[in-house]
Amino acid sequence: MDAEATQDVDSKRAKTTVGPVILFGPPGAGKGTQAKKIAEIFGIPQISTGDILRENVSKGTPLGHMAKVVMDRGELVPDELVYGMVSDRLGKEDCNRGCILDGFPRTIPQAEWLDRYMEGRLFDKVGARKMPPIVIQVKVEYNSLLQRLTGRRSCPNCGRIYNVHYQPPCVEGICDLDGSNLVLRPDDREEVIAERLRAYDRQTLPLVNYYQKSGRLRTVNGDQPVDVVTAEILRAIENGDRL
Ligand code: AP5
Ligand code: MG
Repeated sequence: MDAEATQDVDSKRAKTTVGPVILFGPPGAGKGTQAKKIAEIFGIPQISTGDILRENVSKGTPLGHMAKVVMDRGELVPDELVYGMVSDRLGKEDCNRGCILDGFPRTIPQAEWLDRYMEGRLFDKVGARKMPPIVIQVKVEYNSLLQRLTGRRSCPNCGRIYNVHYQPPCVEGICDLDGSNLVLRPDDREEVIAERLRAYDRQTLPLVNYYQKSGRLRTVNGDQPVDVVTAEILRAIENGDRL
């Protein structure tokens, strides 16, 4: 594609009604990395329940106090704790053209809750069409997940995600964008990672079946370079007969 054609595609994407896109996959699959890129491409927000919970933890809110204990063990916080924060976030005006849900839903009750919530929000395209969520499962091999999680570092200020093995910052331990000291997530310790992966298998994987039944599931191979995965996700969104 020449530069002019690329610009046309970019400006079309920035105006498109995308509707809700759910990115789901195990811890370390690259949901956050991809959600940030896709959100920027379409100019719609990334909604990460993990990030919102961590923000509550760092601000010391009552929700943060309740969530911290559970997150530090690598378990999922109770469904009821996430509904309020998700509906607050989805109700904001910047979600009008759509949003990228990163880490929500991750249980069957959460998926059912979201379906009920979405019934009242049609994301009409040219005034007529209901847009149910597009669900993208990012699949990654177990050993890559472990490497990715133990090597992850993130910027506490801008949220940019790095990896000491795969996407290191220019200067070790320092964010390229704002110079902050990079941090390790408390739940990226090996014993907690094992529990997070178990929780994923037990509580989140059943969503494959849930979304397959309604024909909404697309699968992407997340074991590829970041830009290749992004291109596959874009294809899954744009060829999903919705845009
Ligand atoms: P959350 O923050 O959602 O964590 P998670 O699901 O465990 O996923 P991660 O954020 O660890 O991984 P990711 O897929 O975003 O990968 P990333 O892009 O960072 O949840 C944390 C906790 O909050 C949960 O355990 C639970 O307690 C609670 N919670 C959250 N939502 C909840 C909900 N809905 N209900 C109940 N509880 C909830 O990438 C990982 C690393 O890999 C990075 O270093 C990155 O640089 C690298 N990487 C990414 N892509 C590639 C690639 N293609 N090649 C090489 N390296 C890559
Ligand atoms: Mg994440």
